[in-house]
Amino acid sequence: MTPQTDPTCDLDLLRSLNMDTGHCAVVGLQWGDEGKGKVVDLLAMRFDVTARYNGGANAGHSVQVGDKRYALHLIPSGILSDKAINVLGNGVVIDPAQLVKEMTGLRAEGVTIGDNLKISDRAHLVFEYHKVQDVLYDQALAKAMGGDAAIGTTGRGIGPCYADKALRSMAIRVGDLLDESALHDKLKRVIAVKNTVLAALAKHCDQPFRPFDVDAVLKDTVGYAKVLRPHICDSAHLLHTSMDAGKRLLFEGANATLLDIDHGTYPFVTSSNCSSLGVHTGTGVPGHKVTNVLGIVKAYQTRVGGGPMPTELHDATADRIREVGKEYGTTTGRPRRVGWLDLVALKYTATLSGATGIALMLMDVLSGLPELKLCTGYEHNGQKLTNFPADAGVLNSLTPVYESVPGFDESIDECKRFSDLPDNALAYIKKIEKFVGVPVSLVSVGPRRDQTVLRDV
Ligand code: GDP
Ligand code: IMO
Ligand code: MG
Repeated sequence: MTPQTDPTCDLDLLRSLNMDTGHCAVVGLQWGDEGKGKVVDLLAMRFDVTARYNGGANAGHSVQVGDKRYALHLIPSGILSDKAINVLGNGVVIDPAQLVKEMTGLRAEGVTIGDNLKISDRAHLVFEYHKVQDVLYDQALAKAMGGDAAIGTTGRGIGPCYADKALRSMAIRVGDLLDESALHDKLKRVIAVKNTVLAALAKHCDQPFRPFDVDAVLKDTVGYAKVLRPHICDSAHLLHTSMDAGKRLLFEGANATLLDIDHGTYPFVTSSNCSSLGVHTGTGVPGHKVTNVLGIVKAYQTRVGGGPMPTELHDATADRIREVGKEYGTTTGRPRRVGWLDLVALKYTATLSGATGIALMLMDVLSGLPELKLCTGYEHNGQKLTNFPADAGVLNSLTPVYESVPGFDESIDECKRFSDLPDNALAYIKKIEKFVGVPVSLVSVGPRRDQTVLRDV
């Protein structure tokens, strides 16, 4: 049986989010792990189709339904709702081994996966050699330039797969799974090149390397193809015919806007357009169709992997937030770096992603802190910066300017409406809205579906 509507969840969610009509996107506005999975799960039961448009198994979206927790990497979080069709759009990079494993795991938990899962024939495939390349590149960079240069990727082969997509001749797509003999030819060609490149790279990194065997890779891949074949389709066509039939679409962002390859803290980013700007190329649905963008924002800030984070904390407050917020990666288990909410960065990402509303997540984690800080400006070389800088070196060396506000002691994890929240929590929320210029339309106070606070003031 598919887990569906939580019996304790009685929310007029869409009205309070101002999402009564149109197609909507849910997008992370920080460095990921903001709680997109929880929000997509809540919304998906109110939409007809949920579609992923970017990223791959680097994403880890945790969803709690009652006492059960699900960790989704490739499959849209809408799979936990009976109603939604779930689409992996052309912009997603799909590791077939991981996808089959995820499908098997979810089915074992009682989740229905059949006609409700669709996979774009234009999406690109991640192979084991991409993962090896991913790890070796990061090691080679660290070796050449020191540990700080490493991106600290998830090792899921994301960068190398998108790079092969851009190279074209090295790429293999989901549609190639439908023709075994053509797949064999492509694997033969690609693996010959990969083995040469990876052997050299491994030698450079002083790592052992066992060349990939074409027949073994083909055998595994044909096995995955058997499972995936019934789900493969022209997903852009499906989304357009769904819209023509009056169905409502929900787009689930993976990763987040500060990790966007064009607009994030480059080069410490992922390899796709994870802001809402990626929805259009990643699914084939044009820009004007998506009328609502819900920006998902943690009430503080976290980052996994390398790269600048101006408001990062290295003190007891960071440790406390990490423990209370269980800030350990869903995909890699790495402890997340923790910092104060950076409103300069948030205004930048909310603007880029065209956020029409903000869902402020994990607000409960801040309860009990005597003082909360919000970063409202940057100083660099004695100058005030007015824009979010493009350069990682500048981001690393600037000084954040903070505004302090009093914290709140009350436990808020059973609040249901904004008017239930303590005054200091409301004052914190109002400061965010005023600075960013986007309303906070939802506050999350726990991982459960019913721990969701809606606007009434
Ligand atoms: P995503 O990648 O954006 O989907 O976020 P993750 O699932 O990686 O990380 C968010 C974590 O916070 C998950 O473990 C959620 O179950 C949990 N979570 C979501 N909302 C809340 C909340 O409001 N309070 C608390 N304490 N946990 C939350
Ligand atoms: P969700 O969807 C947090 C980070 C990695 C690394 C950088 C590049 O769960 O929010 P990659 O493997 O993509 O080449 O790694 O991006 N990263 C994430 N951090 N949440 C994610 O996804 C992430 N996806 C990628 O840690 O620093
Ligand atoms: Mg995550």
